[in-house]
Amino acid sequence: MLPTSEQPAFVRTVAVLGAGYVGLTTAAGFAHIGHTVRVGESAPERLATLEAGGVPISEPGMDDLLRAGVGGGRITFHAANPDAVAGADVVFIAVPTPEGPGGVVDLSSVHTALESIGGFLDQGAPVVVKSSVPPGSAEIIRRAMDEAGIGNPLVINPEFLQEGRAVEGVLRPHRVVIGGADTEAVALVAELHEPLGAPIVRTDAASAELTKYAANSYLATRITFVNSIAHLAEDVGADVEAVLDGLSHDPRIGGHYLRPGPGYGGSCFPKDVRALVRAAEAHGHDLRMLRTVVETNDAQLGRVVGKLSAGLGNLVGKTVAMLGIAFKGGTDDTRSSPAIALADRILAAGATVRAFDPAATVERDGLELAGDEVEAASGADALLIATEWPQFADLDLEAIAAVMRGRLIVDARNMLDRDAAIAAGFDYRGLGR
Ligand code: UGA
Repeated sequence: MLPTSEQPAFVRTVAVLGAGYVGLTTAAGFAHIGHTVRVGESAPERLATLEAGGVPISEPGMDDLLRAGVGGGRITFHAANPDAVAGADVVFIAVPTPEGPGGVVDLSSVHTALESIGGFLDQGAPVVVKSSVPPGSAEIIRRAMDEAGIGNPLVINPEFLQEGRAVEGVLRPHRVVIGGADTEAVALVAELHEPLGAPIVRTDAASAELTKYAANSYLATRITFVNSIAHLAEDVGADVEAVLDGLSHDPRIGGHYLRPGPGYGGSCFPKDVRALVRAAEAHGHDLRMLRTVVETNDAQLGRVVGKLSAGLGNLVGKTVAMLGIAFKGGTDDTRSSPAIALADRILAAGATVRAFDPAATVERDGLELAGDEVEAASGADALLIATEWPQFADLDLEAIAAVMRGRLIVDARNMLDRDAAIAAGFDYRGLGR
């Protein structure tokens, strides 16, 4: 259940530039707590979808939240950014900040958005950067604003949403981080968020930027740590699942982000960890630990493929059934998906891949798509679990065994009951067990 909509102490007009994942969730969240939201979106197709009542992102609960805002007259969509920012008390920039050459974040969409609104902003309306920008960006953005004749205050307000849980994240954030030199602007952005009841961290721009990259890098480091421990567990004859059980009861450690897997993926962790390493380098600082995280994470793919080739002898001419294509369970997002990276390596080694995913899809020469788990497994020499879709934990092992040619299962997400898989006659190889 969503919390009931409350009228904030004061209602503001909020412009959000960019109707992507971050922009739309931000817009829906602000509308839910009563603010008036004007969304600027320059891609005609996306705008048409939104104007027709469609929701161009797939996120549980988002359709209802967004439609409630639009239906209640609190969200409007605008093709031109100057229209979106007209009369706005505050302007959020939520455009993509992809990885550019050498791992440096590409801020060009932020610059384009700024250029489009120069001369159209209400005096004093803070410009709030919601897009992920690494430490040092605020100085660059400030200069670009000055060049565009935008004297308004600049605020950095990073987004911490997790795909698949965005509605929860926007309505009940664990914290809201707001950084900027102008204390009034920071206070205004803090007031906007007050109805959400989350802890608010008010700070400077660089600290807000660093918080976002430190959070993602820390979580990526935990995943890499547990993958390393799983590797060691195999060498010392331990079971990483028991080790994890033993670790997670310690409240100083906990159990989150300690699931072994084929390495972290998605549109954020890989890019953000590399960007933090680059941002540190720009200050003459070598973040050796994070460089090792990047290398270890990349090497994890090779370890998973190694389990397949060790079990099959050779991958040439073999068929591998791959369960999962998305970068994680619960999404159709395939950006930097470890599953696809695994498929590419398996294909390059001369095997055929037959993949099934409940939501995601991919096109590759030599890769066939299957309609379900059993179809994927038909005639396969090995079964690889690549993405943590909950339904894969309940695989009908008898049905799979009946259709497979071989008996190898490589469980790169440690999802299956190992004993049940062995009892069903499989050569079961998980991570660290
Ligand atoms: C991540 C962060 O969790 C969000 O807080 C952040 O806002 C977001 O990036 C972002 O910067 O926009 P997300 O990319 O949706 O969110 O993905 P996660 O659910 O965190 O998973 C990331 C990757 O780590 C996935 O490939 C997942 O399979 C993997 N993972 C996660 C593991 O291998 N083990 C774990 O225990 C947890």
